[in-house]
Parts: sequence; C-alpha cells; structure tokens
Amino acid sequence: MNERDSEAVAAQLMTKGYAVAPDEAQADVILLNTCSVRDAAEQKAINKMETLIGQTRKHNPDAVLGFMGCMAQSRGAELVDQLPDVDLVLGTQKFHRAGEYLEDLLNGRRDKVVDTDEEEGSEGAIREHLLNAQSESKAVTAFVSIMQGCNQFCTFCIVPYTRGRERCRSIEDIVAECRGLVESGVREVTLLGQIVNSYGKREIGVKDGKSAFVQLIEAVHEIEGLERIRFTSPHPKGYGDDLVDAYVRLPKLMENAHLPVQSGSDRMLKLMHRGYTRDRFLELVGKLRTAAPEMGVGTDIIVGFPGETEADFEETMSLCREVEFDNAFLFKYSRRRDTPAAEMPDQLPEELIEERHARLLKAVDEIRVRKFNEFVSRRMEILVEGPSRRNAARLEGRTRCNRIVVFEGGDRFVGQVMDVEIESTSPTTLYGNPAIINLN
Ligand code: 5AD
Ligand code: SF4
Repeated sequence: MNERDSEAVAAQLMTKGYAVAPDEAQADVILLNTCSVRDAAEQKAINKMETLIGQTRKHNPDAVLGFMGCMAQSRGAELVDQLPDVDLVLGTQKFHRAGEYLEDLLNGRRDKVVDTDEEEGSEGAIREHLLNAQSESKAVTAFVSIMQGCNQFCTFCIVPYTRGRERCRSIEDIVAECRGLVESGVREVTLLGQIVNSYGKREIGVKDGKSAFVQLIEAVHEIEGLERIRFTSPHPKGYGDDLVDAYVRLPKLMENAHLPVQSGSDRMLKLMHRGYTRDRFLELVGKLRTAAPEMGVGTDIIVGFPGETEADFEETMSLCREVEFDNAFLFKYSRRRDTPAAEMPDQLPEELIEERHARLLKAVDEIRVRKFNEFVSRRMEILVEGPSRRNAARLEGRTRCNRIVVFEGGDRFVGQVMDVEIESTSPTTLYGNPAIINLN
C-alpha cells in the first residue's frame, strides 16, 4: 500500500514536469514515505532523514526534504520540531497535494508545510501510475487502491489513527482506472485496501447475495484484455461464502489468499479485538482450499502480544502446523502509542518475544520450504512480468498462487500467460523450464 502511495505521488509529480532523479544526491526533492505499524519502521525513517539532511544540505541547500504517509500523519509538526531541516510533512489524506506544496516551497512562497488534516474524497486521489518510468519493459502488473482507512481498531494497531475511517471509491471509478491500465499493457491488477472485504459495505451493500467487494471483482473481471485479478488483504471476519465462491466462478481471480490470523489463541484474538475465533479461521481456510485446492494461503502473525503465555504461543505454533501456510510474515509485537494494547498489563520482555519469534520462524520456514519443494516437476501457469530482479538476463513470472518463477527466455514472452515446468527451487524462487511453452 505504501509503495502504491509513493508511486501515485511520483506519477503526479511527473505530470507536473518533474523527473525521477538517478540517485538521492542529485535530487532536488526527497520525500520519505513512512510506515508507523512498528516502532522499528519509524526509527528507520528518522535515521534515514538524518543521513539525508547531513548529505544533502551540504551540496544542495535548497533541496526540499519531506516526510509523507503514516508517520507524517501521526507525528505532524513534532517531526519539524525534532528535525528542523524538514520542509514538508504530508499526511495520509494529502498525497494529491504534494505538487502544489512543493511548488510553494521551491518558489520560496512558504518556508514549511505541515498538512495532516482530513480531506473528504481523498480516497479517490490515489489513481496515477508510473507504468514504465523505471524500467525498459512495460509494466505487466499494477496495484489499484480501492479504499482507504480502517474501522476495525485491533487493539495493537495504529492504522485506524493514521489512515482514518474507512472510505471507498466507486466501482465505476475503479473499473475505469483498471481499464486504463489494461490499455497501457497491464495484464494483472491487485486490488488494495486495509480490509478489502469491507469494501462498500455501507455505500453499496449486498445485491443478489453478493457483497459489494464481490460485485467489484465481477466488474473488474469483465474487462477485456485483463488476465488476472488479485486482492490484499481480506480480513477473516466477515469473509463471506460469496467471496469463497468467487474463486470457483471467476477464472481471472488468482488462487491466493493472504489472510492475517495474528494468533492461534482465542484468548489473544479476543484481546486483540480481531472479531473471529481460531475455529472460524480454520473453517475459512478449509472452505477456501475446498473451493480451490491449489490455493496459496499466507498470513501475518504477531508474537508477544501483551499477556501472551507459553500456552497461547503454543496455540499459534499448532495453528501454523495445522494450516501449513505457504507464506507467513511474523512480527514481534511493537507497542504503539495511543493504542489500547500499549496500556495492557503484562507487556512481555523483548528477549522472550525474540525467543518465541525465532522458534515460530523456524517452524513456519520448515513448512514453507517443504511445500515449496513439492512444486518441482510440476507444470504451472505463469504470467511473465519482465526481467528477473536478481538476474536481468532471465525472465520472471508468477504462478496463479503467487510464486515467483525464473526462467530463460526472450522479451517477446513479457506480458504472456504461459506454462512452465518447475525444475528446481531456491528458498524463495522456483526455476522453470520454458521448453514446454503453450502461449495463450
Ligand atoms: N506490532 C507488531 N506487528 C503489528 N502489525 C500491526 N500492528 C503491529 C504492532 N503494533 C502487523 C500485523 C498486520 C501487519 C500489517 O503488521 O500482523 O497484519
Ligand atoms: Fe490494523 Fe486491524 Fe485494521 Fe488491519 S484490520 S489495519 S490490523 S486495525
């Protein structure tokens, strides 16, 4: 989501005549997009800004330095007090104003700009794309922001405070953006939101037994020339049968579900205010795998939430063994100011969180690698995205279940859906043989 916001701001500035600088040292404007979800991310952004100030102010004293995104929103003017060299602080509902504020700053009309206000309609402003600016080949995949904000208020999470309440774009607006992307060569879109299955609940509602989000997927599915649709992230609470059924009915919807579980313990799930139980989560994974046996299932887990006992942690370990996630992001609990969990009793010591994190990481990694190796010798459909990020002489594509496949091949394959046979794996990548080619 942050990458998508950065892209939209960069694209907006390019339409105003800016160009992407080859490196930081040559830039006249440097905006750091920031994440507040964990304290480490905030510290990293502050350290990076301090380094930039040290480097930039010497050889380009007039350069504009700014923060944007969640940390800009939650800290506001405090950031300028802490780092007086910072010129711009742009909140999460103000990305579309970057151009006008930069103009004011560069022309000396204003000395500093801090804007973290709410702005009605800002959810519809994240729409510009930088499709081909960074690479030689055309972009094959794109992210589309369908909504902003979150109303769930999980007790550990800062997002509802930094991103505000849930606001969604209209189906027509999103479809028009996707259609434009397809006309520019995009073949796959990923629909983005904090809880995508809450999309349009109030504004659009259920029609013919289909939630607003499923209605949106169906409308995007109609777009001719679009090959693939993904979305992230859905929330296990309120994940209806209509969305499970969409995987069966809609061939362009890829068999991949990133379903953040956070914990395997009902006691923790309740304290976290997640709105589902372990059993309900397991039932949902079962339904998804029945609907689409090839479903890649990923998750997010927080280790060391306040009050987590060894027994609670064991429940998370056992849930991971039971589900066998294809991919799991593990986070050490980070205390965020103003969130209810920050005030809960029994905050765990860092060493204990580290120790549990290491144990869980080992367990989920073993499962992931074992499942990964099961792909060898299988024939899989991929969409070819472009040169491999690791080795530009090779190509890279993604399976329907969201695995990266690297293989030898020429430019003409970029943007094509084709079959490859998987020959070998590394811990994160599948290597395919392009000999068996079946171009659609
Ligand atoms: N500490 C650790 N992890 C967190 N996440 C959100 N807030 C926190 C926090 N305070 C994780 C959740 C979420 C992911 C995006 O970040 O697992 O799904
Ligand atoms: Fe944060 Fe919970 Fe909303 Fe996700 S659902 S953004 S974890 S409050």
